[in-house]
Amino acid sequence: MLKKRLTAMAGGGAFALVFAVLLSWYSTAPAPAPVSTVTVYKAPTCMCCGAWVDHMRAAGFEVDVHDVADLAPIKRENGVMPEHGSCHTALVDGFVIEGHVPADLVQKMLDERPEIAGLSVPGMVVGSPGMEVPGQPAQPYDVIAFDSNGNSGVYAKR
Ligand code: CU
Ligand code: CU
Repeated sequence: MLKKRLTAMAGGGAFALVFAVLLSWYSTAPAPAPVSTVTVYKAPTCMCCGAWVDHMRAAGFEVDVHDVADLAPIKRENGVMPEHGSCHTALVDGFVIEGHVPADLVQKMLDERPEIAGLSVPGMVVGSPGMEVPGQPAQPYDVIAFDSNGNSGVYAKR
């Protein structure tokens, strides 16, 4: 057993070199971003909400789904104005996500942490993530950024 180990050590020069290279590579590579957990509140029967959850998971997010009978109080408590309302409401790292917001924009917001309460895609836009309808062309839409004081503006166009 010991002899075997010594032999392995003698032949370990090349391995040590590779290890050193790997170590230097790892120490200069940026630390991977921690995976954010998205907590989703949706109606139990909502199909498009489930499709959006799949979209977020496919983009690498952890998603925690809560089926609730009445979403109105959750929207109200999180400052989602009626004109920005959609089907589901989600919370991630202190931000609110209302409706079918694309995962890449959620990630952009989490990376940049702008001074907003959250993002919304009001209504149910055909072609937005989770709202793809076979045979129907995607509609252009605005992704809205809103704050807790009733201000809002266009965050991105899709
Ligand atoms: Cu929906
Ligand atoms: Cu939904």
